[in-house]
Amino acid sequence: MATRRLPRWHEVKPLIGAENPFKNRRARALARAANIWDLRALAKQHTPAAVFDYTDGAAGAELALHRAREVFNRIEFEPRVLRDVANLDTKTEILGVSSALPIVLAPTGFTRMMHHAGEPAVAAVAAKVGIPYCLSTLGTTSIEDLASAVPNVRRWFQLYLMRDRSLRAGLLERAAAGDYDTLVLTVDAPVAGIRNRDIRNGLTVPPKLSLSTLANMSRYPSWWFNVLTTEPLEFATLRSSEGTVADLMNKVFDPSVTPADVTWARETWPGKLVVKGVQSVADAKLLSELGVDGIVLSNHGGRQLDMAPVPLEQLPLVKEAVGESISVFIDGGVLSGGDVVAAVALGADAVLIGRAYLYGLMAGGQAGVQRAVDILQQEIRTTMSLLGARSVSELTPDFVRLRNPI
Ligand SMILES: Cc1cc2nc3c(=O)[nH]c(=O)nc-3n(C[C@H](O)[C@H](O)[C@H](O)COP(=O)(O)O)c2cc1C
Repeated sequence: MATRRLPRWHEVKPLIGAENPFKNRRARALARAANIWDLRALAKQHTPAAVFDYTDGAAGAELALHRAREVFNRIEFEPRVLRDVANLDTKTEILGVSSALPIVLAPTGFTRMMHHAGEPAVAAVAAKVGIPYCLSTLGTTSIEDLASAVPNVRRWFQLYLMRDRSLRAGLLERAAAGDYDTLVLTVDAPVAGIRNRDIRNGLTVPPKLSLSTLANMSRYPSWWFNVLTTEPLEFATLRSSEGTVADLMNKVFDPSVTPADVTWARETWPGKLVVKGVQSVADAKLLSELGVDGIVLSNHGGRQLDMAPVPLEQLPLVKEAVGESISVFIDGGVLSGGDVVAAVALGADAVLIGRAYLYGLMAGGQAGVQRAVDILQQEIRTTMSLLGARSVSELTPDFVRLRNPI
């Protein structure tokens, strides 16, 4: 029979210490978020529905976004074993500069609407981890404010081609002066996509204080308190206008853009030039001939053309067409480290992530973004270790196949 004794304090103490009871509730919730889906659930709890839907949603029937996820769900890895993965290295070069992970934090508009900490909080995480951060034209922090808030982050600037050409040129001058080293020219938005959730929610930026939003305040008091007690929510690079996001995009964006606009950017911008929103092999070839440094195979996370092709499926075809002449990035629906590893193995130089970090931001500000990136980093390391790939350059298409839908 077992002999019993009283427990001793020095034996019990470490067991209690496993969960610090003084950590605040939000920090505990973030620490318990096991993956990006858990962060999404937390984000939904803490953000008014119209704002969550603006982030989470896509255009039309949201088929482009769902299909991107379906293809990631069909990934099957073929691991190699007995490969000594003790010294794993996730570093890679992105447009000539070393990056801790094959990840870029994608440009997203209105970031301070998701959480008042906004763009500087996201950029601060990118700086800490050692990955690039891309500021959007529709950002809620100016080019200069972001550069002074987070001077040590590798900064990219995303430009929408606006009707007002002097405004375009002015933004490029300011970005170059602020040491942004890469310009991302987004070309999949000659007009705004039709985002049904925003129409149904009547979303305007900034959100209006209507009767229904007042009712909503009682459910999300801290979000409203933070929005109303920090700098007014407006575009840092564009004059705000009354109306929905789609109204603004349609008013400001130039629907008559052509390859000449890419040539203009190439001649005007002193740094690296990446064109985002490429969705065909023919356009990838054209842009390579126009002398860009890279392209992002992207359908804007399904937010523009619904029923658009899935970037991951186009990747091998585009790589075959352009070879190593330009860098090829992809985005859309990336929610796990496994997704990142699969995309890189299939030929992507890096992956842009949007919603994954925005869920973290909505769930808990900068700490939430940090949690999102930490989760992806841990998943990338574990996936690479279990695949037997010791470095990013060892990730090749041999590791990946697509299962047929069951
Ligand atoms: C809320 C939100 C705002 C966005 N704003 C912009 C933008 O201003 N400029 C741009 O080029 N892309 C924008 N995008 C698209 C992202 O840069 C990226 O292509 C997309 O988020 C990738 O898909 P994922 O969110 O599934 O990772 C936005 C995406 C989201 C979710």
